[in-house]
Amino acid sequence: MTTTALVLGATGKSGRRLVPLLQARGVTVRAASRQASPHHTLFHWDQPETHQAALDGVDAVYLIGPDFVEDPSNVIAPFLDRAKQLGVKRVVAISSLGVDFPHEPADSGRRKVEQLVMASGMEWTLLRPGGFSQNFSESFFLPGILHADAVATATGDGAVAFVDAGDIAAVAAVALTERGHAPAIYDITGPQSLTFAQAAAIISKAAGREISHRKISSNEFATILQGGGVPADYAAVVVRDQEAIRDGAGAVVTDIVERVTGRPPMSFETYAANAAAAWTRG
Ligand SMILES: NC(=O)c1ccc[n+]([C@@H]2O[C@H](COP(=O)([O-])OP(=O)(O)OC[C@H]3O[C@@H](n4cnc5c(N)ncnc54)[C@H](OP(=O)(O)O)[C@@H]3O)[C@@H](O)[C@H]2O)c1
Repeated sequence: MTTTALVLGATGKSGRRLVPLLQARGVTVRAASRQASPHHTLFHWDQPETHQAALDGVDAVYLIGPDFVEDPSNVIAPFLDRAKQLGVKRVVAISSLGVDFPHEPADSGRRKVEQLVMASGMEWTLLRPGGFSQNFSESFFLPGILHADAVATATGDGAVAFVDAGDIAAVAAVALTERGHAPAIYDITGPQSLTFAQAAAIISKAAGREISHRKISSNEFATILQGGGVPADYAAVVVRDQEAIRDGAGAVVTDIVERVTGRPPMSFETYAANAAAAWTRG
């Protein structure tokens, strides 16, 4: 039984939504951030001294690796060892649908992390989401929508079944607290695959102005990422995913959200209606 859970990435898109879901299930939540606060426990992947205090007394961990690191296995391996030593029973780790895309190298960082989780000696669940809907309202597509009325991608006419971060959190909450979800690998998607042009049209309707999809090359996309401070090796992973989506690999739709949570995943239309305020200029 899970009584205390450590949520890494608790200020992020999925972790922030997971915290209240776990609390509603009666779980004591330790919400981690690199900025300690009355609501957040200090945790930094690059500061192993913060790991012990974060893990002490915890039954289950929601694991998100460090931002923009292609291969974080060197910091995740000792963290998992320590978690096991301290009596953590279960780990639910966020990975990516991209792990199974064609051209994913056998020794990619995210594959190495999955292998570490599977070999951790704890009960494990790997969550492999496709593209988050919230990328448009809380993350890397937002500046383009606000400042250029455009979403620029190298995905061409490829489609993605965008998944709401709340649905990822709902699957994680079940996997962290109920039996029957370990070991398991869950490919998590929304209910319908959409091209970026279709997604932009839905956002246009919700935002009340025209937002277009601008098709750009892989090189242009990599340049934009690196201009924003993303390291070249991580930018290469994102570009590889974009190319795989362009070639059709991202269009998969699964029933994991409904199977695990008992309710259907949120449609992109509903997400966009809820998120519309994010696209207001000024
Ligand atoms: N976006 C997508 O479409 C997509 C698709 C598939 C998979 N994924 C995977 O989803 C994961 C991201 O999940 P998310 O979107 O829920 O999170 P997110 O919104 O990207 O936020 C990242 C979180 O991790 C924390 N964090 C970042 N670097 C850290 C570090 N060095 N040490 C400690 N904490 C750190 C941040 O907390 P503080 O800033 O408060 O410290 C923040 O809460 C990534 O592994 C990504 O590969 C994303």
